[in-house]
Amino acid sequence: MQQYLDILNKAITEWTAEPRPASRLMPAHQLSEQLDISLGEDGASLKQLEQAVKDYLHFNPDVAQPDFFKLLYSGQNDPALLGDWITALSNATMHTYQVSPVATLMELELIKQWNALVGFDDGEGVMVPGASQANLIGMMLARHKACPDYKTKGPQGQTLVAYVSDQAHYSAQKAVNVLGIGTDNLIPVVSDDNGCMRPDALKSAIQKSLSLGHTPFYIGLTAGTTVVGAFDPVEECAAIARRHNLWLHIDGAWGAPVLFSENHRHLLANSHMADSVSWDAHKLMNVPITAAVILVKEKVQLSCCCSGGGGEYLFHQDENASFNLGERSIQCGRRADALKVWLSWKAIGNKGFSDKIDFLQDLKSYCVERVNQHPSLQMMAPATYLNVLFRFQPELDLSEEQLRNLNIAICKKLREDGQAYVDYARYKGRTGIRLIIANGAATQGDIDHLLENILKTGSKLISE
Ligand SMILES: Cc1ncc(COP(=O)(O)O)c(C=O)c1O
Repeated sequence: MQQYLDILNKAITEWTAEPRPASRLMPAHQLSEQLDISLGEDGASLKQLEQAVKDYLHFNPDVAQPDFFKLLYSGQNDPALLGDWITALSNATMHTYQVSPVATLMELELIKQWNALVGFDDGEGVMVPGASQANLIGMMLARHKACPDYKTKGPQGQTLVAYVSDQAHYSAQKAVNVLGIGTDNLIPVVSDDNGCMRPDALKSAIQKSLSLGHTPFYIGLTAGTTVVGAFDPVEECAAIARRHNLWLHIDGAWGAPVLFSENHRHLLANSHMADSVSWDAHKLMNVPITAAVILVKEKVQLSCCCSGGGGEYLFHQDENASFNLGERSIQCGRRADALKVWLSWKAIGNKGFSDKIDFLQDLKSYCVERVNQHPSLQMMAPATYLNVLFRFQPELDLSEEQLRNLNIAICKKLREDGQAYVDYARYKGRTGIRLIIANGAATQGDIDHLLENILKTGSKLISE
């Protein structure tokens, strides 16, 4: 083991310690020629394994660098990293209390805290590998409420219909596919200019489904949309859900952590009006992938909906039976993700996350101010949360397609030159650079540096 610890030590203190480009992306065919990824009959030496680890880290994007703005997480969370390593060391699985006693208690404490933030006074929940699965379970709960027989008998000729905004994450499409609802029965409800679901459009969409003889069953709101960070209006949509007796789910994968902050929790006001909420710990809380939760307002819904029978060999009816989280889950073996979340939460408390949100919101406002000050940069959507969608738009007569190509080229060039890792996205037919401000260690200087590089690179590409 010591030899492997030595490699881990070098990985942390040497290979990833110095500032380095956020990305060293290389086309797949070139990388596969450069590295020997083959497996074979004979085993390899420790030296070869060490080299493989070094190469892995060399070519993988470094999400901890302050010029990494691509994903909905960045920076490094040391207590969570420790938790991840210890989780692997324990190799615990979460189906029963017997094989994961401390992690089970930690997960239950996390769920209690998350529910308190959301406002579910007597809620439950279970950790999942990501919000895609949390959204799937939210929709499955909705299906179970609308058609309790669906679980045992299947669809029986009904057409169930779900509604999300046209800005919702694509996991909604996966969920209707997996649950047998059918992707045609997921209705993308029109969003307003800010990217928020329009309640009037939701009402009309439900009326239309009813007039077709279909059965509406699920409204999926988003708190912090993926491209522009919009928050759908909970109160108005909750009233619509109540009127039609529909399940109301909030996908808070990215935006739910605003609930930590007194200053910003108004963005997700009335979260308690939902029936279920998804929350990714591996996004803004920056716990190493994967860690997420599905929170549910009313107890026992999860076990009713998720249990399938046949687990008697595992779920013994002993004094710890009510602590067996496996009956709430659609997984059997499940990683003990609670430890890393618990350690990082314990290390900084609610206040630590609240400070992080406040700090990042201030940094975002600084960034927006700088973008607005420059005549060649244009904001493309209001930056309510930590997504800044903007573009380089010189005073030239360029078509939308030319502007799209220009901004895509800027992102590519910044990445290739090792200056920054940002990505582009399309919003309401126009393409811009999507900047995600999620690194609690980033500075105003990092933002200035990035914007200068974008301007310089954009001007150079134009002159070429
Ligand atoms: C709003 C939203 N919901 C859900 C997801 C999916 O989350 P995960 O990758 O944890 O499955 C994402 C991912 O970016 C997201 O932005």
